[in-house]
Amino acid sequence: MTPPAGLLNDPNGFIQFDGQYHLFYQWHPFACQHGSKFWAHCTSDDLIHWELKPTALAPDASYDKNGCYSGSAFVLNDELHLFYTGNLKDEANQRISTQCLAKPIDSKLESYEKLGPVIGGQPEGYTAHFRDPKIWQHDERWYCVLGAQTEQLTGQVLLYSSDDAKQWQYLAPIVGDGINGLTEFGYMFECPDLFALDGQDVLIGCPQGIQPQGMNFHNRHNNGYFVGQLDYATTQYTHGEFLPLDRGFEFYAPQTTLADDGRRLLSAWLGIPDEDDQPTVEHNWIHALSLVRSLHLVDGKVQQRPVEEHKQLRCSQQQWAEQSLNAQQSLSFSSENCFELALKAEQIDGVLSLRLAEVGEHFVEISFDSATGVFKVDRSHALYQDGSRECLLSTRDSLELQIFFDRSILEIFVNNGEEVFSGRVFPAQAVSNTTVTSTKSCIIKELIRYDY
Ligand code: FRU
Repeated sequence: MTPPAGLLNDPNGFIQFDGQYHLFYQWHPFACQHGSKFWAHCTSDDLIHWELKPTALAPDASYDKNGCYSGSAFVLNDELHLFYTGNLKDEANQRISTQCLAKPIDSKLESYEKLGPVIGGQPEGYTAHFRDPKIWQHDERWYCVLGAQTEQLTGQVLLYSSDDAKQWQYLAPIVGDGINGLTEFGYMFECPDLFALDGQDVLIGCPQGIQPQGMNFHNRHNNGYFVGQLDYATTQYTHGEFLPLDRGFEFYAPQTTLADDGRRLLSAWLGIPDEDDQPTVEHNWIHALSLVRSLHLVDGKVQQRPVEEHKQLRCSQQQWAEQSLNAQQSLSFSSENCFELALKAEQIDGVLSLRLAEVGEHFVEISFDSATGVFKVDRSHALYQDGSRECLLSTRDSLELQIFFDRSILEIFVNNGEEVFSGRVFPAQAVSNTTVTSTKSCIIKELIRYDY
């Protein structure tokens, strides 16, 4: 999903309502820069084909004139509602953040009426960096988490509750610096989302200002998750380590929803705040949303998989026979930059690598070293973007990749969602080369390219 013009950022209000999926996004229609945000609105029956609807929210009220900032959607008395942050700068350029409601006034859910602020301001001890309400229901009560900044300029997640989703009561900070043993957790926490997954309470979001730790958190702004338990009676959230959700270069502000069939679905912005220098700007648009993914808890870690619905986009395929790949041998093809690649390798000895999006001297290199277990995505030879990101995999001699390459969008699912690396690459041509090589040996059990 890309904007028709202007800048897209966070996915908002992701929900399935009356069978149809609704996904809104932060949108600045007038320039490829951040500004007073609108909520663009898209709908889909299958999470793959999205239709752009009339704009849902515009920054036209006294309390949101500097932006209808991020938020979520919920259903109250059979009516869809949007819960978002009204961003206002007063005459002295001071920020005022309120949490506001809106709901559709027509049966096609195309025109929205604003119901105004329901949380008037931040609690004592916090700055006006207070935004991104994510709402859910538990035991007949409404709850929401909000991203916040303390007056000491540290990031926290605040928990609120309500009987009717209109009168809200502040409960407690549940995550952040100084809470539950956490230290040095950045200066602001954006876009928190808390949900139950396989018996645990997972909290995902974006702490700003955290330092890199080993292979983790090397982006300018990072994303990640905790697995834990929220005790609704004491409002204590006990949790484990904060881990990266997507390890790629551009991934931010992920938001989830619970589908009617029980799947926990996620959409994310494949961009990063303060990183708006991409070649699409020449064509008056910038940024994209990720493929919709389903979430799973495996051995205490969150795994992400592309939703099965993507398979309907496959139109033709090239499949290679099972074979061993020894040093100096390679498998390669040239194709339009719009395909899915499935690779299964076994008995890997040495480094197995995949050169992708190769045009002339530019390419992205994906590699797995069986000696160290390090999986790496290296963009340092790409045309516009640079850097590399890596992680340790749980397997040493086998590897499974599912790669989606959609012109400039690259999403790499490793070992059925154990790790995901997403980011943008901009090849100079619409056709590029892909090459699989191995420094010693491996068996390629499966290699299929699906053209889209
Ligand atoms: C995250 C964010 C949110 C905010 C929105 C404004 O990217 O900064 O915290 O609500 O974008 O567009």
